[in-house]
Amino acid sequence: MRVDILSILPGTLHSYLQEGMIGRAIREGRLDVNVVNVRDFAPPPHRQTDDGPYGGGPGQVMRAAPLAGAVRSVPRCKKNLVILLSAQGARFNAKTARRLAGCEQLILVCGRYEGVDQRFIDRCIDEELSIGDYVLTGGELPALVVLDAVARFVPGVLGNEQSAENDSFTNGLLEYPHYTKPQEFEGLAVPQVLLSGDHAVIAEWRRQEALRRTRRLRPDLLTPDPAHRRPGRATVVLRGPADRLLK
Ligand SMILES: C[S@@+](CC[C@H](N)C(=O)[O-])C[C@H]1O[C@@H](n2cnc3c(N)ncnc32)[C@H](O)[C@@H]1O
Repeated sequence: MRVDILSILPGTLHSYLQEGMIGRAIREGRLDVNVVNVRDFAPPPHRQTDDGPYGGGPGQVMRAAPLAGAVRSVPRCKKNLVILLSAQGARFNAKTARRLAGCEQLILVCGRYEGVDQRFIDRCIDEELSIGDYVLTGGELPALVVLDAVARFVPGVLGNEQSAENDSFTNGLLEYPHYTKPQEFEGLAVPQVLLSGDHAVIAEWRRQEALRRTRRLRPDLLTPDPAHRRPGRATVVLRGPADRLLK
């Protein structure tokens, strides 16, 4: 998969792209990540990418022309999406990450200041994505969040192909708890079932723990099912493929 990240602060991205699984995936050629400096598309000598807002008000607005020039400079794969990171965008989640992993190319545009000129959005942007209901100083962290979450669904990026499938949210539940050596830590023992060697029993235990944990920490992932409700009995169904796990 090819990912192009457009920013006026490209230096903020580089160290993350060199480390960990993302760095390895890039070195192995599973991800082709290019960072484009939007300033290169602003007129010399000052390479100014922002200006005051029409109508007045605080702050600066990113100018449309350098952003459009940067987007148009990127070579396109057939199945591409141009995404603006924006606090006003649709909320990014695991389902969106999986969908985006099906693209050949993502072009991620990072805003700064008060945001970007609306005419750039109207002309060049396919989708706007937000990573949460809060405002950051720029789109670089959100772009890395999107890249990282999407990359986990790109074949070969994770060492173990199973990991993304068992992860929280992939099947509508939080993941079961994990334990590693030693068998005892500060008086707390590893659950006996995990030492049993019985894979079917372990799988069932993990399934139950995932459900228990989801009920406790994220009950919003489990919706009441009016069709199955009985007096005095609370019944839940899971959204999406998770209800498979209950059968
Ligand atoms: C200070 S913010 C602009 C916020 C804008 N004035 C508003 O109220 O929506 C500057 C840039 O950071 C990025 N950004 C900030 N919060 C974000 C979020 N929650 N998700 C995605 N991008 C965000 C966007 O690229 C945005 O253009």
